[in-house]
Amino acid sequence: MFSIDHLDIPPLASAGGTVRLPGSKSISNRVLLLAALSMGQTDIVDLLDSDDTQVMLAALTQLGCRIEPQPDGALRVHGLGGQLAAREAQLFLGNAGTAMRPLTAALALLASQHGGAFELSGIARMHERPIGDLVDALRQLGCPVECLGSEGYPPLKLGNGVPQTLSLDQPIRVRGDVSSQFLTALLLALPLVAQHRSIVINVVGELISRPYIEITLNLLEKFGVHIQRDGWQRFTIPAGSRYASPGRIPVEGDASSASYFIALGAIAPAAPGTDGITIEGVGLASIQGDIRFVEAARLMGADITGDANALRVRRGAWPLKAIDLDCNHIPDAAMTLAVMALYADGTTTLRNIASWRVKETDRIAAMATECRKLGATVEEGADFIRITPPTAWTTGSIHTYDDHRVAMCFSLAAFNPAGLPVRIEDPKCVGKTFPDYFETLFSVCKTDAVRIPVICVDGPTASGKGTLSAEVAAKLGYHLLDSGALYRLVGLAAERAGLSTTEAALREPAQAQRLGALAAGMQVRFTGQRTLLNGEDVTPAVRTEAAGMAASRVSAVPEVRAALLALQHAFRQLPGLVADGRDMGTVIFPDARLKVYLTATAAQRAERRHKQLISKGIAANIEDLLVDLEARDLRDSTRAHAPLKPAADALLLDNSQLNVEQSVQQVLNWWQGKTVFSGS
Ligand code: DC
Repeated sequence: MFSIDHLDIPPLASAGGTVRLPGSKSISNRVLLLAALSMGQTDIVDLLDSDDTQVMLAALTQLGCRIEPQPDGALRVHGLGGQLAAREAQLFLGNAGTAMRPLTAALALLASQHGGAFELSGIARMHERPIGDLVDALRQLGCPVECLGSEGYPPLKLGNGVPQTLSLDQPIRVRGDVSSQFLTALLLALPLVAQHRSIVINVVGELISRPYIEITLNLLEKFGVHIQRDGWQRFTIPAGSRYASPGRIPVEGDASSASYFIALGAIAPAAPGTDGITIEGVGLASIQGDIRFVEAARLMGADITGDANALRVRRGAWPLKAIDLDCNHIPDAAMTLAVMALYADGTTTLRNIASWRVKETDRIAAMATECRKLGATVEEGADFIRITPPTAWTTGSIHTYDDHRVAMCFSLAAFNPAGLPVRIEDPKCVGKTFPDYFETLFSVCKTDAVRIPVICVDGPTASGKGTLSAEVAAKLGYHLLDSGALYRLVGLAAERAGLSTTEAALREPAQAQRLGALAAGMQVRFTGQRTLLNGEDVTPAVRTEAAGMAASRVSAVPEVRAALLALQHAFRQLPGLVADGRDMGTVIFPDARLKVYLTATAAQRAERRHKQLISKGIAANIEDLLVDLEARDLRDSTRAHAPLKPAADALLLDNSQLNVEQSVQQVLNWWQGKTVFSGS
């Protein structure tokens, strides 16, 4: 019901540690297509799991290709061997250019050879991304291709259900100066029809983004197709070419994704006790062109070392050095340079980047607009961007244009010297290539605990704190601390250890100490919906009424409360925390920026608890529940240590008349008012 619509990144101070990158998008989607076209099965290892690869997998499955996960984590693709298992299909390809272009070429050829008809469409932005040059090339060959919307743009209809005679004797002409993906698409697909004759492709205009063509040629080699290349103008697919599965093929980490962590290492001081950032999964032997971002980052002052499969990055020159660079060879990673430029000692110019205008969004316009929000002076041209760092940093809500790279780039603005937080809108758009980007970023970034925001939600039992807190945390992308669960776990651990938790027993000082030691030694983990105590899944056991009562008794023991203090503080992690309990605002996080005290009448709460139990198939009596609940309220609010009461600065929320959605909205409204983005 609730999904995050923005992520506020607190000001960050330092970074250090190791990150492992997800598989390369460009390699993943090429390998998937090649495996599907090959004869035999291919096990793909470390395939990227993201929106763009999901789209490709769904399309291949629709085309009749069998794809099965293997016990060792590999994905097995049973190749179609150049045949068509389905003669008709309507494929939805989202905004994945790496699926749209190669599938267009492959399906146009297959449909013409075997008599098929396929419709390819995507989201609105995909229908604005030009594909006319590829369509022209395919029509030259005699493939029926129809543009169903505007001429030169998807959606497309490929083939007309009738086999065609293709004219493959003349060299095929394709433009190389709009997107290298047109040439890649032809190179990947033409071996389908090269059994009896060689096929020549002539590139018209200067070929941009050559490194991506190198990835294509490299992967074709691995699948048994050896393309001959004369410079960058002429490519020959030799007669008799055939895709042959390599059996098993690993996908290397995404070099474009590495750029954010290279930039991080260059911008952030090394976190105490670390030697900067180590990146695993991609290194200096990478076949991806964006690995040359390393050279560009070095020009700006980054201290980078590495080996075949890993990179190590530390801050070198500081401030970074402004550069003037032709970025044609690293079109995607160059966006990261634009954000590094915000930390440079002068004006940086990135040239030869016209292709940015036809990517997920118009990236030149997007980077210019968003850099200006941070106080930079930006000049943009048809094929360049020039950035002068802010003299006084400002902050704003970064619009991300459904472009994963814009979102990832601007997270790095959180190291701004003004100590301002940065808001990233629609952060989930990173799912296109790096679904866990922010989690990975936060796992290596540090900042002072006081800068990590905490929202406290305290209140009596059955007031709906748990549900409210979980929803607010999900909406903000924050961590969640269910402190009640910790006391429940102490009760459970005591029961398992044969320690009595009756009120009489707990009055014994020795017993109180034993319980404190037990609480201090608990190994607690919360994973998704599960609660683990010393490695054992105790999820149902901690949620019972009896566990709640035991928790209420043990929570009155000062030794237990003291033992749980450090554990609770440890939940305060980037990018923020929602903490629910009884004393979150009064004792545990007294400096929290927002404290909510949730109330509802005892009768209301007893009724809610009753409904909850009945819905779980647990028999319950409403009068008994009311008596128990009032007993717990009394004990929780009259105990000597950290009694349940609203913090002096808490905002009261009586949710007797509100549904969950309304309560969540109220808390989010209060929170928005506390952020520096409240005016935006
Ligand atoms: O929220 P809950 O029902 O899971 O909490 C169980 C008991 O734990 C509650 O009756 C009192 C105690 N508790 C506490 O003392 N301090 C907290 N921060 C949270 C819970």
